[in-house]
Amino acid sequence: MIWLSSPDVTTNYQCREELTTGLYSHLTSELGSKIDVFILGIDLDDNLITRSKESNKYIDHIIYEKMDVMEDSSVSQLQSFLQRYNKTKFDLITCFSTTMWIHLHHGDDGLNKFLSKISKLATLLLIEPQEWKSYKSAVRRMTRLNREIFNLEKLKIRDITHHLSQFFPKECYEHFDKSLGETSWGRNMFLFRGQT
Ligand SMILES: C[S@@+](CC[C@H](N)C(=O)[O-])C[C@H]1O[C@@H](n2cnc3c(N)ncnc32)[C@H](O)[C@@H]1O
Repeated sequence: MIWLSSPDVTTNYQCREELTTGLYSHLTSELGSKIDVFILGIDLDDNLITRSKESNKYIDHIIYEKMDVMEDSSVSQLQSFLQRYNKTKFDLITCFSTTMWIHLHHGDDGLNKFLSKISKLATLLLIEPQEWKSYKSAVRRMTRLNREIFNLEKLKIRDITHHLSQFFPKECYEHFDKSLGETSWGRNMFLFRGQT
């Protein structure tokens, strides 16, 4: 079984217990030795990837790679990971707290391109999107820190939950399966099932 997940680093400065490792431990304890689990953890931040590699306790099963999922070259990077395990798709792609950053940097078209891309690459898709109020605080924070300036006016997609539920059935996912409740940060997770 192959998972794709971002390394779990909550801030730029502090790396807490890896979500990726947590997923791996959970899956292996659930599945026992019946099935091998392989995870590719990706992020465009070089430092996060380096730190994740340094603390990786499961080097045969969890691989971290620096990758910008919006770059065309990421397709061949992802495919070459899949080929190693004789797979054409990931069984699951997880995307935690990342849609907002892709949306802010690449706009509505970029967000749709990203969703379309990952939906073609996975049987199951677990997404924790950020809601519009998080966009406003992120933009305020970035402005206060003199970091990037984002123009929220340009974004037409504002109800991300609704957008996801509309986007997947139209594109290639059969149905909007279910919300998996809320995380301790108050953000919903959604699971989409691909056509079998
Ligand atoms: C808020 S953090 C979430 C980290 C982790 N998934 C979690 O839930 O704690 C968002 C992460 O998305 C990464 N990211 C943003 N755009 C990306 C892209 N185009 N390709 C790969 N990673 C990206 C950022 O570098 C950042 O580490």
